[in-house]
Amino acid sequence: MTKYLILISLLASLLTTSAFAQTKAGDVTNGKRLYEKDGCYQCHGYVGQGGTAGPRLAQIRFPLAGFIAFVRNPPSGGMPPFRAKVLSDQELTDIYAYIKTIPEPKAAKDIPLLAQ
Ligand code: HEC
Repeated sequence: MTKYLILISLLASLLTTSAFAQTKAGDVTNGKRLYEKDGCYQCHGYVGQGGTAGPRLAQIRFPLAGFIAFVRNPPSGGMPPFRAKVLSDQELTDIYAYIKTIPEPKAAKDIPLLAQ
């Protein structure tokens, strides 16, 4: 009986560790590289500032899972879908980590020229 319990707990720990191993914390440098290589910048701007072709991504409100779901299947057709063959979950996690590092813009009151 205890043999089985040990086996079961071993299996359970194997399963949980492999689930965690699937996506590591995002790698910002690789995320920036992929953001440029896979063309996100073409519509969203080099620092995610947005433009005529795509909205702002800096200060993104989506959690990681929502971000991945969106990029895999953008609802409106304004953005091409990026399937798992093109960008893996890990690669999208890296891109997300990069987007998260983009600093907030200065408030208008902190720009001296605007106060003149
Ligand atoms: C051809 C232009 C284009 C490219 C390339 C593109 N996007 Fe988009 N993206 C859009 C448009 C347009 C929207 C607005 C929503 C829509 O129309 O589906 C959008 C929306 C988004 C959103 C939702 C933003 C929000 O807050 O609503 C995310 C996240 C996003 N894009 C991520 C990416 C990532 C990551 C890449 C690169 C892998 C990428 N996009 C490449 C055009 C593009």
